[in-house]
Amino acid sequence: MLGMLDLAFARSQFPALAGDWVFLDNAGGSQTLIGVADRVRDYLLTSDVQLGASYAVSQLAGERVAEATRAIAAMIGAADEHEVVIGSSTTQLMANLARALRPQLRPGDEVVVTDCDHEANIGAWVRLAEHGVVVKTWRVDPESLELRLEDLDALMTERTRLVAFTHASNILGTINPVVDITRFVHERGALVCVDAVAYAPHRALDVRAWDVDFYAFSAYKVYGPHLAVLYGKRELLEGLATLNHAFIPDDDVPYKLQPGGVNYELTYSMLGVVEYLETLGRRSSTAPADDLHGRVAQAFAAGAEQEQALAGRLLAFLRDRRGVRIYGHERADKELRVPTVSFTVEGHDPAAVARHVDGASIGIRYGDFYARRLIAALGLGERNGVVRVSMVHYNTLEEIDALIARLAEVM
Ligand SMILES: Cc1ncc(COP(=O)(O)O)c(C=O)c1O
Repeated sequence: MLGMLDLAFARSQFPALAGDWVFLDNAGGSQTLIGVADRVRDYLLTSDVQLGASYAVSQLAGERVAEATRAIAAMIGAADEHEVVIGSSTTQLMANLARALRPQLRPGDEVVVTDCDHEANIGAWVRLAEHGVVVKTWRVDPESLELRLEDLDALMTERTRLVAFTHASNILGTINPVVDITRFVHERGALVCVDAVAYAPHRALDVRAWDVDFYAFSAYKVYGPHLAVLYGKRELLEGLATLNHAFIPDDDVPYKLQPGGVNYELTYSMLGVVEYLETLGRRSSTAPADDLHGRVAQAFAAGAEQEQALAGRLLAFLRDRRGVRIYGHERADKELRVPTVSFTVEGHDPAAVARHVDGASIGIRYGDFYARRLIAALGLGERNGVVRVSMVHYNTLEEIDALIARLAEVM
């Protein structure tokens, strides 16, 4: 049963929130949990040895990293830790994935990318053109700025091997129907690779239930360290080319896709994210679920209500102002969007708007956010892009009111 988000508890877990700044650039990077920082320190000071040796400290180090990858697998709904590839960033993981998939692709095979993704899930696939792969672009509908399945249908042929798309746009905030798109692509014999970087901070993940093939997100936007996670179905990971030493066996996943190994202390610190979400779920629910995945889902469900209220207040203000254009859904429906809100103001440079807000110790951001193809499609490429306010569950209505007051001074 859904209760109220325990906002006081949530905020107490992020020491930075007790400072003078209001953080509304969370889609750039969220604040970090105390339980994450503590574990980085603890790992480095008590178990910083190489994994895989027989002595006790090395065993402890290995168990810590393994415990964290098991917890990540449980949190995202993967079968087990073998389906979880850790990397330094989503950009790196996408580039690695495309490279490891390349030997399976023949000249004339096709991949589809969108024009509304971050470049991480476009450029990696576009580079395959150097090997004769045909790259097609699934464009958002110019009116609704949504991806339409009929447009995808027109692009897919029997040579289509993969469709790369985003779960939520880091500019529009629009949530794409991942299950429908995945089913549609599978029915046509291709795989999906989903960028969930802009989605994962806001909603529970359930990769096996959704039947996605590859699915990536960045931990530093989900309250954790500078690390990223790529889920892949085990049989698909096993079929990829190794990126590690040639003698590492094909079925040694994820190790064969983690050349040089992972960052141990940061991987271990991910337990702080899982523990926080579980605790938040328990504290925000009248009937806590009896498993980890369920409690994490309860945390996100309660958080989504808070996010909807925050985005609702900001969007109502923006809708009322003359000369403002909101990109993406204008209402804060949590089924349709995450609380990443982008807009432009007629006659105002996005850079000037953001800098004015900086002056009130409120961090927002302007630009193209590396979703450069979308910004170009919107005709904003030469104009400093959009102003973006990106909220998460730990933000407060008072913070949004302070932002609104500051924005009102210039627009
Ligand atoms: C939607 C989206 N995808 C991918 C990325 C890239 O993530 P990383 O910095 O981990 O490479 C970002 C970063 O802002 C993003 O917003």
